[in-house]
Amino acid sequence: MQLQAKFDFGFNSEPFLAKVGKVSDPDVRELTPVSTTGGRPLCLSFGEKNDDVPNSVCVGRQFSYLAEGDIVRIDPNAGEMRVVFRTNSIHNVIFMTERCNCRCIMCVQPPQNVDDSWRNRENLELIAALPKDLKTICVTGGEPTLNKEAFLNVVKALAEHLPDTDVHILSNARTFNDVPFVKAYADATNNRFTIGVPLHGVEPQAHDFIARSQGAFNQTINGLLNLAANKRQVEIRVVVHRYTAEHLADIAEFVVKNLPFVVHVAFMGMEPVGYAKSNFENLHVPESVWWGGAAQACKLLDAVGIPVSIYNVPICLLREDLRLYSRQSISDWKRTFLPICETCKAKNDCCGLFESFAGLPNIGLKAK
Ligand SMILES: C[S@@+](CC[C@H](N)C(=O)[O-])C[C@H]1O[C@@H](n2cnc3c(N)ncnc32)[C@H](O)[C@@H]1O
Ligand code: SF4
Ligand code: SF4
Repeated sequence: MQLQAKFDFGFNSEPFLAKVGKVSDPDVRELTPVSTTGGRPLCLSFGEKNDDVPNSVCVGRQFSYLAEGDIVRIDPNAGEMRVVFRTNSIHNVIFMTERCNCRCIMCVQPPQNVDDSWRNRENLELIAALPKDLKTICVTGGEPTLNKEAFLNVVKALAEHLPDTDVHILSNARTFNDVPFVKAYADATNNRFTIGVPLHGVEPQAHDFIARSQGAFNQTINGLLNLAANKRQVEIRVVVHRYTAEHLADIAEFVVKNLPFVVHVAFMGMEPVGYAKSNFENLHVPESVWWGGAAQACKLLDAVGIPVSIYNVPICLLREDLRLYSRQSISDWKRTFLPICETCKAKNDCCGLFESFAGLPNIGLKAK
């Protein structure tokens, strides 16, 4: 699914957010600015520009999915549109920053050392424009907590504006090593907030090697303990690749012994994008290599009542006993199915594949 487009109608204004109005014509959407920085109402048409209509902007027909209430970011000087919120999706994100304090070897979103503090105001404007009955939203980056003040402003705004929404924050949790910051986070949020934290190993050397950052493991573990001490929910996420595949059972055992408060553990197939793409040959291991370890890990967690899932792995690439842990985890805009899937009886329960896998050599799908 395409989320970004170029258009050839420019005018002088700061970038602004705009909401899609009621759909009365399948080929046209009215856009109303919701930013405080300006912008102007626009008429978005698909396929062909309507020169008779003032402020008409044209993008491809693939954007005809835009529905009433969706929100786009318009950069009039650059002639760019980006879809930042879709009413009909459960995969919307508040993207805090491209910067990070780690450089994980498999990172799907390689950190960039840029000043993108402009996002802070825009994220608050986006939150204010979100529907009150929103079921779920994700906060991510880069590392979303790097600018502590901006992060706290965002979680406060979410808690106040959307008290009934589940908020899933993805963070390496190093910043939560700072106790006053954890207290401020706990004060600002409620029990609908969960922080999903990657764990790459059970001791500093293994974890820090993957995070490519010394001291990461100790800070992350302290962060997790601080969050639990302040009664905030945490989840553990393990991306499976060459350096974690053999340690899934050890990680599960570590969680059971040291982090028994976690509300969920997810073992996640690796998306071949970013560093995972450039390091693919080195990092990729066939799923069959980790079936045994995953089964042991899932049983251990099951036995103590910690919910456990396997994400991002098509059902036909999982051993029979692991299929019950499989979830529809891949974001709708990144997910694809191949022609072989069309006749597959498991399709409705299957997470499909990352679109980025489609161009890679056959990964052994077998329709049921
Ligand atoms: C890109 S990170 C950004 C948020 C935060 N820095 C973190 O690591 O949680 C978002 C999530 O993507 C996961 N992730 C990173 N690289 C991945 C990959 N190649 N495939 C699948 N998940 C990946 C991380 O473990 C994390 O849960
Ligand atoms: S996975 Fe998260 S913590 Fe690791 S480099 Fe990427 S953004 Fe940073
Ligand atoms: S063939 Fe396709 S739909 Fe069927 S289990 Fe495999 S990936 Fe899923």
